Amino acid sequence: MDQPLTDDGQRLQAVTNAQEAAYGHGVDYVAGSPHLLHHRLRAWLVERMWRLVDTSFARFGRCRVLEVGGGHGTFTAQLAAMGADVTVTEISKSSADVLCTHFRHSPNVQVMHDAGGEEIFALPADFDIVVCISVLHHIPDYLTFVRRLTALLTAGGTLTTYQDPDWYPRRSHLEAAADRGSYFAWRTTQGHLLDGARTRLRRLRGCYDESMAADMTEYHVVRKGVDEQALVEFFNTAFAHVDLLRYWSTQGAALQRLGEKLGLRNTFGIEATDRRPGGSGSR
Ligand SMILES: C[S@@+](CC[C@H](N)C(=O)[O-])C[C@H]1O[C@@H](n2cnc3c(N)ncnc32)[C@H](O)[C@@H]1O
Repeated sequence: MDQPLTDDGQRLQAVTNAQEAAYGHGVDYVAGSPHLLHHRLRAWLVERMWRLVDTSFARFGRCRVLEVGGGHGTFTAQLAAMGADVTVTEISKSSADVLCTHFRHSPNVQVMHDAGGEEIFALPADFDIVVCISVLHHIPDYLTFVRRLTALLTAGGTLTTYQDPDWYPRRSHLEAAADRGSYFAWRTTQGHLLDGARTRLRRLRGCYDESMAADMTEYHVVRKGVDEQALVEFFNTAFAHVDLLRYWSTQGAALQRLGEKLGLRNTFGIEATDRRPGGSGSR
């Protein structure tokens, strides 16, 4: 039987398997993640979440959050501490198990192991906020994905996504060079340099190997980034307010501080608020 394909012809199952392999038992989410590594960046994201949760309580008297791809629960814990009722999904069984253990005494957190990334769309459409942090770049057809997520929101609800690389072809020469340079400076401190160089050569030739987790997990990081303008265009059809926030994130601490000082940008977040009743978005 034919297998479903991604928008660029890769087998969807290969992408899903890669998530399981990359985020399997014992994975360290913090090591390569600027938004978990750097206090200022993490605190800024937490503050953005707080504001959304507060607004939801003020407006609706409740806050039901769907967090997609919660990892080991860094932001789930924050959302739950703010009083939200959180449903957190994970495609990786090991990460879902970790979440179940972490939140076993938190009645306001429900963990869902969504092995194929599709079960989520059968949930009732009664969420006030949908959160994706560092998730969209793992999803081959992220435009369809956010359209389907939008359909899970109540009227007036918010969809927020952070920590995805912006669209490479639109970067200035300086931002492209700063992004690559700071990544490689950090990468040389991480070992397995020969493997890294081989992967890099394949990517330069435009070859992606569906048996390699590096090519399939960081799906859009190794391709052209995530098209923030296309997302904004969609969100404008479904939400009354759409804010695009572009910022700098990189793994090395000194280069993170330097990039922030210089006002460089390579990463984005979007907050789409006030979902229009009956606005675009279908499952
Ligand atoms: C880079 S991690 C981010 C984890 C967490 N949001 C954070 O910022 O700490 C991406 C996570 O998304 C999960 N993931 C990827 N695609 C998914 C999908 N379709 N549904 C649910 N989880 C998914 C991966 O298993 C991984 O745990």
